[in-house]
Amino acid sequence: MGKIARSKVKELLQMKAGENVLAKGWVRTKRGNKEVAFIALNDGSTINNIQIVVDKTRFEESLLARITTGACLAVTGKLVESIGSGQAVEIQASDIEIYGECDPVRYPLQKKNASFEYLRTVAHMRPRTNTFGAILRIRSHMANAIHQYFYNKGFVYLHTPLITASDAEGAGQMFQVTTLDLNNIPRNKKGGIDYSKDFFGKQTSLTVSGQLEGELGATAVGEIYTFGPTFRAENSNTPRHLAEFWMIEPEMAFYDIRDNMDLAEDFIKSLVRYALTHCREDIEWLSAKYDEELVSRLESVCETEFVRLSYGDGIKILEEAVARGVQFEYPVSWGVDLQSEHERYLVEKHFRKPVILTDYPKDIKAFYMKQNEDGKTVRAMDVLFPKIGEIIGGSEREASLEKLEQRITELGMSRTNLEWYVDTRRFGTCPHSGFGLGFERLLLFVTGMQNIRDVIPFPRTPKNAEY
Ligand code: 4AD
Ligand code: MG
Repeated sequence: MGKIARSKVKELLQMKAGENVLAKGWVRTKRGNKEVAFIALNDGSTINNIQIVVDKTRFEESLLARITTGACLAVTGKLVESIGSGQAVEIQASDIEIYGECDPVRYPLQKKNASFEYLRTVAHMRPRTNTFGAILRIRSHMANAIHQYFYNKGFVYLHTPLITASDAEGAGQMFQVTTLDLNNIPRNKKGGIDYSKDFFGKQTSLTVSGQLEGELGATAVGEIYTFGPTFRAENSNTPRHLAEFWMIEPEMAFYDIRDNMDLAEDFIKSLVRYALTHCREDIEWLSAKYDEELVSRLESVCETEFVRLSYGDGIKILEEAVARGVQFEYPVSWGVDLQSEHERYLVEKHFRKPVILTDYPKDIKAFYMKQNEDGKTVRAMDVLFPKIGEIIGGSEREASLEKLEQRITELGMSRTNLEWYVDTRRFGTCPHSGFGLGFERLLLFVTGMQNIRDVIPFPRTPKNAEY
């Protein structure tokens, strides 16, 4: 008999009984009696395990004793129909090689049903749990879905820089990048930091958004998208904020705010539909374990038309709610930035479907948004989702050189690092729009998880940069 090729568990579970097979993976559980042991083996290819049946008379007791939860094995044997319930086939082991033992006392995942909080403290091991295996597979599928969606529409995937000298959102929440010796900072004549001595010869940071460079691409090749990590040094310890998160930012020439909303709605529905078909098994598993409404929530988003509403009308609804006795932690009135409690009230209580809120006050939005005729609002659009609140933020962009320059001046922003951006309006300006989808917010929605730290393998949050 020649060497048997290894089959993934996902494949084994679909194979017909009768073949000799080789499975490799990690032990999830081991149980049994005097005569036989049953090992549930998982290799991450699927949420399901393959059952290994071990006839104890055929193996050394010492070998069997070394097989504990978490150990890594290679098992050769015959695939047979399973008489037990729960699986169609199982492997009758003829040979077992132990690649790696796993000390049952020290293994961090020994306990079943460990809390999410505990698992965050052992995030280097948590991908081995069923829950995080499912999340990592879904995350990967969704990244693929995003590339497919834009590829099929002819968008150009644009790689924008992670290190930048400009603050795209103007919120001053950037992580500085420097090679200066912090114990011996070079000073200029005025006593300030002499950044000419720094690596790039100027002050630089990690990007908060690829949008500004995205606009350079869109005003050249028409339709682009970025998909990469972004960084925000905002000190928000919430279940929806990360200091390092991934964002998808499409930017389209000749799109107005309506086209932008249409694309955002179609995009997110396509992604959820993709999840329902390509990640069905994992989603159903998560749904059964944590959130029985997950599947129906996902299906309903695909089927309903999103509400489109102005910020002003949204504020009226919230004010009426307050008048009727609804309590919010933060006050609402025209001009305030909406908190997620307000967003979720509109989506979950008032409309019971996703809402696209438009025409926000210009003072709470970034400098690049197109100003409306009223002089007070801008053509912004936020997509608000059940359980999440804001999942997408975007706008039509200010195309007028004069108005853009005026806004930059009004806000007292430095022009030095923005001249290249202003050039898009100076040379052949065009109407254009775009938006940003927070990848982890999308994953929160698709997986039904409650905390954004649980949908990224290695979360970065204030006071936490482990691994
Ligand atoms: O609304 P934001 O700040 O918009 C922008 O950055 C624009 N430049 C996008 C554009 O028009 N091209 O962020 C966009 C989205 C939010 O709606 C949210 O989903 C996500 O990014 N996001 C975060 N996700 C996790 N942690 C954080 N700290 C986030 N901040 C924003
Ligand atoms: Mg936003």
